[in-house]
Amino acid sequence: MSSYQIRVFGDPVLKQRAKDVTDVDGALVRVVNTMVETMYDASGVGLAAPQVGVQKRMFTYDVGDGAEVLINPEIVETEGEWAYEEGCLSIPGFHYEIVRPKLVTITGVDIDGREVVIQGDELLGRVFLHELDHLDGVLMLDRLDPDERKRALRELRDVDLNAASRERLDDVRQL
Ligand code: NI
Repeated sequence: MSSYQIRVFGDPVLKQRAKDVTDVDGALVRVVNTMVETMYDASGVGLAAPQVGVQKRMFTYDVGDGAEVLINPEIVETEGEWAYEEGCLSIPGFHYEIVRPKLVTITGVDIDGREVVIQGDELLGRVFLHELDHLDGVLMLDRLDPDERKRALRELRDVDLNAASRERLDDVRQL
């Protein structure tokens, strides 16, 4: 199996809104399979298509129950609040505590083209929100408060993320 190169912060593709998927066909399934491979290679728990340069509204994830894909996802409902130390495969080596809703109900289409509704609590909900942000060109940095964001951007300016170590951060999942 092959894998894609993961685009890192600074790549303009990460700032663009991805387009709806119109056909769930063989070509799309191959892209999804390669995304899953890429996500596992990088020890990620979630990967959005724009992170590998594919401008389509879909993401893969695996929080321990096997690889899944969600196509044309939309949030139905969110509940509660949860602070969590988030990492991102496109900002390797960096992590930030971000408050987001805790319980997330999301809808979308699966790999067989069937409409699904999924409820994600804690980590799974976090993955849904983080990946959905990627589809809208939003990075976790954009979820920081203005001062934190400024500090983070300053720090990132001097780092070559393409050369940054992708070694697993022990307690941080990369999304
Ligand atoms: Ni990410």
